[in-house]
Amino acid sequence: MKKITRVNHPPTVELPTDNHSIVAPIYQTVKFEFDTLEETERFFRGERPGFFYTRASNPTTRQLELLLAELQGREECLVTSSGVGAISQTLLTLTKQGDHVLCFIETYNPTRYLIRRLLGRFGVTHTMISVEDIAGTERALAARPTRLVVFESPTNPVTKVADIKSLTRLARASGALTVMDNTFAGFHQHGEYDVDIFLHSLTKYASGAGDVMGGAVIGRSDLIRGMRNDFGALGGMLDPHAAYLILRGLKTYFVRYQTQSANAMKIAELLATHPAVARVHYPGLPSHPQYALAREQMKDFGTVVSFDLKGGADAGARFSDALKLFALTASLGSTESLVVAPQMMGGRDLTADQYKLSGLTEGTVRLSIGLEDVDDLLDDVKHALAAAEQS
Ligand SMILES: Cc1ncc(COP(=O)(O)O)c(C=O)c1O
Repeated sequence: MKKITRVNHPPTVELPTDNHSIVAPIYQTVKFEFDTLEETERFFRGERPGFFYTRASNPTTRQLELLLAELQGREECLVTSSGVGAISQTLLTLTKQGDHVLCFIETYNPTRYLIRRLLGRFGVTHTMISVEDIAGTERALAARPTRLVVFESPTNPVTKVADIKSLTRLARASGALTVMDNTFAGFHQHGEYDVDIFLHSLTKYASGAGDVMGGAVIGRSDLIRGMRNDFGALGGMLDPHAAYLILRGLKTYFVRYQTQSANAMKIAELLATHPAVARVHYPGLPSHPQYALAREQMKDFGTVVSFDLKGGADAGARFSDALKLFALTASLGSTESLVVAPQMMGGRDLTADQYKLSGLTEGTVRLSIGLEDVDDLLDDVKHALAAAEQS
């Protein structure tokens, strides 16, 4: 073999069957082959296991799918190249022209955009009300056949808590499927509720390091199996190296989530007592309007703390600029603390009435609390609140 051939066919290294690597190898390959055409054909007829093309499946992404399904308490999972990829491919796969979708004003901005603009272009109609409006949900579901009820809890950014039992009961009774973006609550929460499909951005708590993007769709195997072909055709598969990084991040998921939630609680308590703050949005605070519901549904209350500054957007700018340990940027759930200033907040697509219902104000700031020492974070927030008060 000439060297130019050799570099394209390097030596094979086989592990003895009784010799195991502690961390599974990264299958950083697009293609897999079988020894013969007959075995390849058997694979395509579904008569033998194996892998062929990474856009359809790959052992590293499959390991992540199996782990996430188990963490969320469901049978099956599909991983995608981002959280928004999981949302868009789910919406496209589960709807057709003439379908109706119920969604909520408090839902993550890009999800609202996808339902209203993208699905709208394909003849899918929607109704959008407040997630707190259970009577309105009942009326909307009674008014017309509905294919999907799409919601999240706690909501981004003002952490409203959806009544999952009521929403899933009403959807089930009307024949609609429930799609819940569970990114804020994480994989260890809400699995006991009758939700058909859980969506996650793996970019957030799963990775934790803020250096990789991914998404997941988790549910019953009959539902997810039906979606797998369409997902392969849409092409938003997660890369195996990204899957490996997310698998590595998941090893510390529980300790990170718990510690960051405990830090978030302390920050929320500080904000709740500060004269510059009009209102704190954190489901773990007894002053949260749905505190009882949050206690019933959640074990940990998450790491996002939002609050309304009395001084409005200008105070929000002073607060954000004065912070030293919080990066002024998007995203949440990684180990470093982050801040979103009022000027960066979504909601501009809402009507004045919808904006009012959303819970946002001109002074709403969102914090994502990280894994730093909590006393350092408290000092930083105190100092930034003092800056916010200076006009
Ligand atoms: C609730 C929620 N869902 C989905 C996403 C989208 O995730 P990604 O950034 O991985 O596309 C985000 C991102 O902020 C989010 O907050």
